[in-house]
Amino acid sequence: MEIISDPQEMQSLARQWRGQELKVVLVPTMGFFHPGHLSLMEYGRTIGDRLVVSLFVNPAQFGPQEDLGRYPRDLDRDVRLAREVGVDCLYTPEAEAMYPPGYQTFVEVESLSGGLCGASRPGHFRGVATVVLKLLHQVSPGVAVFGEKDYQQLMVVKQMVADMDLPIKIAGRPINREPDGLAMSSRNTYLNPEGRAAALCLYRALLAARDLVAAGVKSREPILAAVRQIIDATPGARIDYVALVDPATLKEVGAIRGEARLLLAVWVNKTRLIDNTLLSETRLCCVQ
Ligand code: PAJ
Repeated sequence: MEIISDPQEMQSLARQWRGQELKVVLVPTMGFFHPGHLSLMEYGRTIGDRLVVSLFVNPAQFGPQEDLGRYPRDLDRDVRLAREVGVDCLYTPEAEAMYPPGYQTFVEVESLSGGLCGASRPGHFRGVATVVLKLLHQVSPGVAVFGEKDYQQLMVVKQMVADMDLPIKIAGRPINREPDGLAMSSRNTYLNPEGRAAALCLYRALLAARDLVAAGVKSREPILAAVRQIIDATPGARIDYVALVDPATLKEVGAIRGEARLLLAVWVNKTRLIDNTLLSETRLCCVQ
């Protein structure tokens, strides 16, 4: 496995691969790999000839009061895990190379970035869209793989790629969960044992919504009331938002017609967790 930190070196390796007509797949990450990240890499392995995983804790997507400084990092472990999965290139640019002095260009995906996590974290999706566009230029993959765990991010990236006419497919992959249902996240490491127990309320709330829909409930209020009730009854948990939205536009819906997405952001003590699920009138599958 190659480990590259220089953007120009990354670009020239990608150019070389393209010249050989190899299909390059990119999985962008901020590192501290967990099975959710690894599932994206394993998928990436199966769909291309060369797999690049970027590892960059992107300062531009963190607010001034957020956890950039204490975001978990373990490069040695990440290198080992990436090797085990069969990653061809781990791309680890430095912040100074991505945003050198004088840097001033940012990408704004307007409507999709406004609500939900964008409302709670102003500037977050501007930072995400900017770094993802830079990574896509540097690696020029045929496919880039993202998790549905960050559903709004996935939609923002898809919109940006369409709007910027990039010849890149964005693949969304299902949420990987702990055995008890908690969605895997690097930020789960912030939770103490009580917080870890409280964090399960997100998954329980999603399951309750799925059950209601399976029982024929379609309108928004009873679904959101059940979700809120479960989270509000959990000590240490505080709702940031609960939203029932159109899966493509992320606009709130009054009832489930066809498919809707239920999105949650919940503070568990000082850690903000997100989770979501598809709610489908017709498809009765388990929560991913
Ligand atoms: P990060 O939080 O490291 O996540 C990297 C990728 O892994 C994202 O596409 C995310 O949706 C996916 N992922 C995280 N947890 C997952 C889970 N439990 N199951 C499946 N996929 C999961 O998201 C980012 O980094 C950054 O915003 C980034 C896109 C790299 C831009 O900086």
